[in-house]
Amino acid sequence: MKKLLGVLAGVVFVALSGQAVADEQIEIGKKIYERAFGRGCGTCHDIASNPQLAANIKAGTLDRAKFEEVIKNGKGGMPKAMDEIMKNAAVTKAGYGEAQALDALFAYISSK
Ligand code: HEC
Repeated sequence: MKKLLGVLAGVVFVALSGQAVADEQIEIGKKIYERAFGRGCGTCHDIASNPQLAANIKAGTLDRAKFEEVIKNGKGGMPKAMDEIMKNAAVTKAGYGEAQALDALFAYISSK
């Protein structure tokens, strides 16, 4: 019984810390989204004529690989954004690398 309780406590702890990590990731993603290029990604992407990122992710037309490709290389009116993302204060504070910063941004946009 004691052993079972220990296992259960461990499971709850892992579940809770997993949630805390997910929350932090989304919080950092939000800061990137709102602050990139000083005015945020939404300046362009919350306008109907430009790609609707959250909707495209949900529709399955924008996956994590394409997301990264466009952010790193730019596309048409879309500026290259990797350097800008890595300069974000929330990213430097968390010590995130490029993949982690992109994961956070993708997670935030997916949650919108
Ligand atoms: C100056 C306006 C502008 C800003 C700022 C901007 N984008 Fe874009 N973005 C565009 C335009 C325009 C396109 C469409 C490019 C094309 O398809 O020719 C685009 C395309 C994209 C795509 C591809 C979407 C798809 O479904 O094909 C992604 C992903 C993307 N942007 C992410 C971002 C993120 C994340 C940020 C903030 C870090 C950002 N953009 C900031 C204008 C902008």
